[in-house]
Amino acid sequence: MIVSFENILTPDELAAMRRQLLAAEWARGISAGPQARQVKKNLQIPEQSAVLRELRTLVMRALNRSPDVMSALLPFKIIPPNFNRYTVEDSHYGKHIDSTLRPLPDGSYLRTDVSATLFLSDPEEYDGGELKIIDTFGEQTVKLAAGSLVTYPSGSLHEVTPVTRGERLGCYMFMQSLIRDTEKRRLLYEMDNSLRRLRAEQGEAQADLVALTGTYNNLVRMWSEC
Ligand code: NI
Repeated sequence: MIVSFENILTPDELAAMRRQLLAAEWARGISAGPQARQVKKNLQIPEQSAVLRELRTLVMRALNRSPDVMSALLPFKIIPPNFNRYTVEDSHYGKHIDSTLRPLPDGSYLRTDVSATLFLSDPEEYDGGELKIIDTFGEQTVKLAAGSLVTYPSGSLHEVTPVTRGERLGCYMFMQSLIRDTEKRRLLYEMDNSLRRLRAEQGEAQADLVALTGTYNNLVRMWSEC
């Protein structure tokens, strides 16, 4: 399931983030495994960079305040977000599947269930630089407005096609979901979407809605791993 979320960042947050990103130091060829490194050609902010902490806090705050993101992904753990920059010289990231296990700052590991890209440049600012995701649903091409987020199963083959004009700033992150299975996660998301709409129409106290919301919660209880 590919899910997009519009305007995850406010215009002020986006502007502040872009200012910091444009002033940041960037480095080439870090953070990919040995196989992915063969196809990766972009720039990233190094881990020791002072600006990274502030940028990460901003992104995490934006995700946490979105009920839709929480409902679709049911995140258990999220890797501190990273930032990348694709230019005509450092233009692409060829086809790859994200590594399954990623170390967390506390020394434990996270299983990547969901990968996410937060777009930080508008589509008019660059040519190319499309995120292509290939999975059971076929090939999808994604190029969203700055401030919008796309999420997809980490097991999908994907690539960022070469940027041929301008530059593309982005933020990416990996999550371990409470619900490991993509199809179960999709069913819960669809059910919660309907429940949220019905509760808005009919009120929180409607007896059948209370019962169905209980069933939703019990499915999460039955399927969640943490
Ligand atoms: Ni990737």
